[in-house]
Amino acid sequence: MATTRFLTEKFGGYRIAKQPPIDEELTRVGRGTPAGELLRRYWQPILHSADLKDLPVPVRILGEDLVAFRTTAGAVGLLERHCAHRGASLEFGKITERGILCCYHAWHFAPDGRLLEAPTEAAQNPYTGKLCQGAYPTKEFAGLVFAYLGPPDRVPPFPFYDSFARKDFHFGLGEPDGNKINIQPTNWLQMMDNTPDQAHEAFLHCMHSGPQFLDQNRRPITELAIIGELDWWETPTGLACHEARRVGPDIWVRSMELFFPNCVQVCRPPVFPPAYPGGATEVEYPPFLIRWKVPLDDTHTANYSIIFYFHGEPADYFTRPTPAAKALYNDRTYEDMQRFPGDFEAQVGQGPIAIHAREHLGHTDRGLAMFRRMVRDGIEAVRRGDDPKNVNRGASGPIPTYSRETMVRLPPPNSPEADKKLLRDTSRRVFERSLAAAAR
Ligand code: FES
Ligand SMILES: [Fe+2]
Repeated sequence: MATTRFLTEKFGGYRIAKQPPIDEELTRVGRGTPAGELLRRYWQPILHSADLKDLPVPVRILGEDLVAFRTTAGAVGLLERHCAHRGASLEFGKITERGILCCYHAWHFAPDGRLLEAPTEAAQNPYTGKLCQGAYPTKEFAGLVFAYLGPPDRVPPFPFYDSFARKDFHFGLGEPDGNKINIQPTNWLQMMDNTPDQAHEAFLHCMHSGPQFLDQNRRPITELAIIGELDWWETPTGLACHEARRVGPDIWVRSMELFFPNCVQVCRPPVFPPAYPGGATEVEYPPFLIRWKVPLDDTHTANYSIIFYFHGEPADYFTRPTPAAKALYNDRTYEDMQRFPGDFEAQVGQGPIAIHAREHLGHTDRGLAMFRRMVRDGIEAVRRGDDPKNVNRGASGPIPTYSRETMVRLPPPNSPEADKKLLRDTSRRVFERSLAAAAR
């Protein structure tokens, strides 16, 4: 039977290809897979520092089962979960000053994997001091433990973005649903595709489910329902994603940033109507979070966020979903999910691994296509033996970022066409200014 992916026949469901294959190259995250090897070239958050207490913590990341622990001397270890002796799980091990003892026969491993002692063996044996349990390097930053799972000779510098260097911020952790992390039963790529897909904000987060975001005064942002002019620019670190909207006499340039390959930066939303300081005609809003979307395996992805608060401001997520539409997360009734769908429903509804061969991309999907192209280029770079984008080896000082959520007082010109052009030009000007600031 002939099937088609571009159906033009009414009542033609029978003709559709039912099971086109997934894009294996972009979606699989296990070791040896193309995207899995790319993702292994970056530091990834794996848990909160505060969760490393007196017991080992099982960790799953990039399809690998590991165990994290903190020695009583304070060093963090991240080891293969199954002991190199006979495979007992180190999650049942005992933490020591120098490492962890396996529960089964007390083989003793250091945080770097070295076998320190093997009490089942004679003093002279081929293992002690030589054999290593699989181990990965870790780093702690802002209350998160990060791990690097790639080749040991390619460890990248930690991605210290300029937002981390701001003296006016202190850092918070967590997700707006009150959970420490948020895990979605979906592939990493469709969670990342969501960032350059700004068109969904007006529909999903405002018109379809009612306004789902609050401004800094906790007022629902109804202005999100205005459809804007979209644009995307590749940056040294990833992709800047803009949407410029007309809001009365002002232009709202919404600006999200994708840090390649699996991290995003989001700014504080404006206050409406905007207050322009001291007669200025523009006001910028600072970043408010950097969020990694970490693949646990092919079909589960965890959000880990570092949230920026001003000193003196309570460390309370100021964009909690509105009570009427708590649709950003997943602990709701099925009826609520149907009435007020949010990112969770949109992304999980695409299936465990979204099938690109079923898609019909349009002009609002250009940024998403740019991102997927970037992932393919990154995979190629790894295959060639090069560093992929945003590894920043040899960077001196903080890594510049480019998201600048901005309001501009610029009343509309005479025609809708002229206004569209003004929106696009203003959006580009905001981006070019952030590029120029980064170059200084
Ligand atoms: S299985 Fe771990 S020490 Fe024997
Ligand atoms: Fe969204």
